[in-house]
Amino acid sequence: MKLIVTGGAGFIGSNFVHHVVAHTDHQITVLDKLTYAGNAASLEDLPEDRVRLVVGDIGDADLIDDLFRRHDAVVHYAAESHNDNSLADPRPFLDTNIVGTYTLLEAARRHDIRFHHVSTDEVYGDLELDDPDRFTESTPYNPSSPYSSTKAGSDLLVRAWIRSFGVRATISNCSNNYGPYQHVEKFIPRQITNVLRGIRPKLYGAGLNVRDWIHADDHSSAVLTILGTGVIGETYLIGADGERSNKDVVELILELSGLPTDAYDHVVDRAGHDLRYAIDSTKLRTELGWRPAYRDFREGLAATIEWYRAHEPWWSPAKDATEAFYAAQGQ
Ligand code: NAD
Ligand code: TYD
Repeated sequence: MKLIVTGGAGFIGSNFVHHVVAHTDHQITVLDKLTYAGNAASLEDLPEDRVRLVVGDIGDADLIDDLFRRHDAVVHYAAESHNDNSLADPRPFLDTNIVGTYTLLEAARRHDIRFHHVSTDEVYGDLELDDPDRFTESTPYNPSSPYSSTKAGSDLLVRAWIRSFGVRATISNCSNNYGPYQHVEKFIPRQITNVLRGIRPKLYGAGLNVRDWIHADDHSSAVLTILGTGVIGETYLIGADGERSNKDVVELILELSGLPTDAYDHVVDRAGHDLRYAIDSTKLRTELGWRPAYRDFREGLAATIEWYRAHEPWWSPAKDATEAFYAAQGQ
């Protein structure tokens, strides 16, 4: 199969490209604008005869038309992805997440190309800490932030293009990912690289917010499964039963780094901060037989800390600007 991976130089996209190279014979064209979040170095060690990088915008209709003509399928990861940035400046989120996805869907319609849309569980809003229910495919959409509302909009566009124009698409909504190649603006790499630089980790508010962690490689295996055997028109939730409070995660990073577990600071909370996300991935497991490989968060986190320790040249150029952005808002 000839596969286009949009956003393949970003965190989850690059993990997916590594996964596809290791587990299939597919040829991959990465289409990535290389925004501040994209990094060609994340694809450096991959075979040149399997993976090609095209630097461009998913909103460039002529470029998309040309690429879609020569491929069998697209897996769409490209997005503006960070909630804090969406609060500071929502505009790029509308352009890429909504108009960019629209541009891809129109090309998918013209070329009848198989389309998989990668999305987030944040489209469902948040849960109370003691809610016994988790998100399922039938939970109503209720996004909180400019980021999650533009992702919700993109999901709805995909559904409309399936129903109205017969686009051969599937959608997945995954919980929070961790692993190698994640930008230092995000929670786990920010705290790991803070510790590596001798800076105290920063916890928003009381730190009781819960995220449902999944290793990026498990997200990749789930997307590859859906691309292979998912039913056209269906949505699948991806999660690995990894609920943890932010406070727990920071304490574990400190413990695994050999530091006192209270050596962190509480900082200004995020506006509109979602309390808890939790995924019920029964449909994906029972209908498509998918299972996560990373069962032990402590082990996965220790390996991720090790990766950042060994790859300072990969993350270091973005660290100062990221911390300056946060410092300006008291975070
Ligand atoms: P990321 O910010 O690390 O990567 C996004 C990539 O998209 C970057 O390489 C960037 O250069 C590229 N990009 C941005 N705008 C573009 C444009 N207009 N044209 C072409 N390329 C563009 O994001 P991520 O964390 O890897 O997330 C990838 C996808 O997975 C997103 O759609 C996100 O909503 C979804 N998702 C993320 C998580 C998570 O925990 N990070 C969880 C569930 C779903
Ligand atoms: P983040 O990685 O931004 O992902 P998301 O907003 O998509 O869940 O944040 C994960 C959680 O960590 C979220 O509850 C906000 C919190 N957080 C902190 O406590 N400190 C930080 O420095 C950052 C970046 C996030």
